[in-house]
Amino acid sequence: MIVAANWKMNPELSVAAKLASDYCAASVAGVTRILFAPHPYLVPIGVRLEGSGILLGGQDCHPSAFGAHTGDVSTGMLRDCGASVVLLGHSERRADHGETSELVAAKAVQAFSSSLSVMICVGETLAEREAGNALATVLDQLAVSVPPTLPTTALTIAYEPVWAIGTGKVATAVEIAEMHLGIRGWLDEAGFDQTKILYGGSVKPGNAAEIFAVPHVDGALVGGASLIAADFDGICAAAAN
Ligand code: 13P
Repeated sequence: MIVAANWKMNPELSVAAKLASDYCAASVAGVTRILFAPHPYLVPIGVRLEGSGILLGGQDCHPSAFGAHTGDVSTGMLRDCGASVVLLGHSERRADHGETSELVAAKAVQAFSSSLSVMICVGETLAEREAGNALATVLDQLAVSVPPTLPTTALTIAYEPVWAIGTGKVATAVEIAEMHLGIRGWLDEAGFDQTKILYGGSVKPGNAAEIFAVPHVDGALVGGASLIAADFDGICAAAAN
């Protein structure tokens, strides 16, 4: 199981440092923990994580190695700051920055060339689900976002229904099961048989066990609850069981 914390653009550095130390204090056996920290925090938070086994990740990268791209961050820079993984195609980046699946694929190729593994996010909007197009939307995103050349062990997929992010609304076990089965089928067909599939969207300690019991759910990508150490630990404990 994998439990990943996506801090997004939170919290202030002093709080972040304490949170990272609190993560390290929890003993979690058999669960891979990943922390996607804001880019300016990678180095100071990486120092806190040393020896904990928690992997450090960036929340985005540029598809080029270097160049005139003011404000952007390269995969080599992420690597040099201690990251071993990068989160790509989060729905907030797709919505706020108009990121396309083509761009996500280009970033994934660049990340792998810098020896970073990638976690690619997919997920439908409420309108797409209500129109009966949830699975088709997600499979279309996968088909374009996932570079066929990526090794299966360098890729993780995070299914995050957009309507469940930060809303307190969680997809039902049946909805998660249908989607994860569909994603699993697509991945296996495309040769990504070792690729894990995480669920994300309002995962909390109180609902984590039920979500982890769903077939083909290999862990969680956690936003809000990852900002409270006890909640993140609770989700990790549910994954360990
Ligand atoms: P919440 O857990 O706050 O719903 O966020 C999910 C998410 O977007 C993680 O990437």
